[in-house]
Amino acid sequence: MSLFSGISNLPFMILAHGGARSAYLAKLHKKEPVLRTGPNTLSYGSVRAIKDIYGHGTPCLKDESYSLTTSSHSHLADVVDKQEHARKRKVLSSAYALKNLEGWEHKVADKVTKLFAQLDKCCTSPLPPDQIHPDPKDVTIDYRAWANFFTLDAITDIGLSESLGLLERGHDRVIGQRLDGTTFEANLRECLYPNARKQSLLLWSYEHYKLLDKISNLIPFYRRMSEAGKGWEGIVLHRAARRLERYRAGEKLDDFFQALMEDKNGTPNNLEWGEIIAEINIMMNAGSVTTAIAVTNVLYELLRHPRVMERLREEVDSVLESDEIVAPYDKVKHLPYLRACLDESLRLQPPTPHGLPRKTPPEGLWIMDQYVPGNTTVSISALVAHRDESVFPDADSFIPERWLDEKGKQLQSHFITFSAGSRGCIGRNISYLEQTVLIASLVHRYDFVLPRGFELQRLETMNHILGEMPVKVWRRSLYVTD
Ligand code: HEM
Repeated sequence: MSLFSGISNLPFMILAHGGARSAYLAKLHKKEPVLRTGPNTLSYGSVRAIKDIYGHGTPCLKDESYSLTTSSHSHLADVVDKQEHARKRKVLSSAYALKNLEGWEHKVADKVTKLFAQLDKCCTSPLPPDQIHPDPKDVTIDYRAWANFFTLDAITDIGLSESLGLLERGHDRVIGQRLDGTTFEANLRECLYPNARKQSLLLWSYEHYKLLDKISNLIPFYRRMSEAGKGWEGIVLHRAARRLERYRAGEKLDDFFQALMEDKNGTPNNLEWGEIIAEINIMMNAGSVTTAIAVTNVLYELLRHPRVMERLREEVDSVLESDEIVAPYDKVKHLPYLRACLDESLRLQPPTPHGLPRKTPPEGLWIMDQYVPGNTTVSISALVAHRDESVFPDADSFIPERWLDEKGKQLQSHFITFSAGSRGCIGRNISYLEQTVLIASLVHRYDFVLPRGFELQRLETMNHILGEMPVKVWRRSLYVTD
């Protein structure tokens, strides 16, 4: 990647500070299938590497970066050991199972209803036909913030049967709890993102990371990020403690917490409280951040591609009654063009663009027909893989049509937005439920327009942190009857 990458991780750390490292790698990979990004680190640029690195049966494990950032107890996403992972996944698979989707739909529908109550209040009059840009005073919402309130409220309800109430309140000020039981107030989103940012900036030289993490706290820029991270842990602890009280009071609720405490037959799992907290932490984090990015990205693309929006609306309108507010999942889950729009947006801008690092086994591994020595960190970023022109022609463009028909189905094995193999995303079905219901309902009920010359800002950590997305919103004419 750089002349110095063979002897130091510094060039990659500098690149990380720019906030767009995978986009940069994607450019370099147009010429080079394999890049050395650090003394012991390789980045791949062809979809042919996916199976070797992440596929079922790969001998690779998650590398040290995961254990270095784990807290007192590991969770499903950062546990490295294969057996430990299998044990955790077994406990959680009943909670995340596809058959539960029906049980969650009403929770998702409830959040859509609450979101729409707010959007209705912000509606402006329709954009005049001779105008393509909104009057700045009509730009009344930051859709990005509402998308995040939506996914946070949804996952807290699905996971803990708790109401965070962000959608009703319209802000994200919530209560957290310290280990001594005292409470504090904090802005949830300000706590959620900075820690991930700090890790993504510093976590490259594994042997020095812990020290670097401590020393960096002397610098206010980094210290603020660490402090914010503690706020997030306190918020999770508070929700979990409240849920535990309900469990102890004998309430039987159908959520992840219940699945963590007992198996289907009511036999206690006897997990340590620290492990339960860790699992709730990752569920609330991974379960909200990524889907919020996804539903922001897809609306952004739809607004920039009016013909795609038109075709999508034709499809959605054909199955929904004109006065139907929340799209029933059964009516929209098989709509091919809707799914194609979601997948194309997830391809073009994967919410988790970070090249997920895996370690080759001690005996080494053949990747794309080349031998790689043991204990080497290898990865392929989803953002890079999805720009492989051999399978995604015109890869930088938003073309949902590529996902339709038989040809589209074949692309799925190259689509790694949710990663692949045994460490692939366990929350994928929940995410599609949320995305499908929300986007179908949104495009059916509302029209939106972006401000003149607007571009969505993305800052890369493990996930993309998105900037604001201001829009003008109004009810579609098929609704303006009351
Ligand atoms: C668009 C939405 C989503 C995207 C793009 C996404 C992406 C990913 C990716 C790339 C991984 C692999 C991470 C790694 O290897 O380090 C992953 C794993 C995981 N995701 Fe998601 N995710 C999404 C939604 C969700 C949701 C809604 C939940 C929870 C409700 C969730 C929970 C998890 C968990 C627990 C893991 C670890 C799985 C394991 O290692 O067994 N994700 N996700």
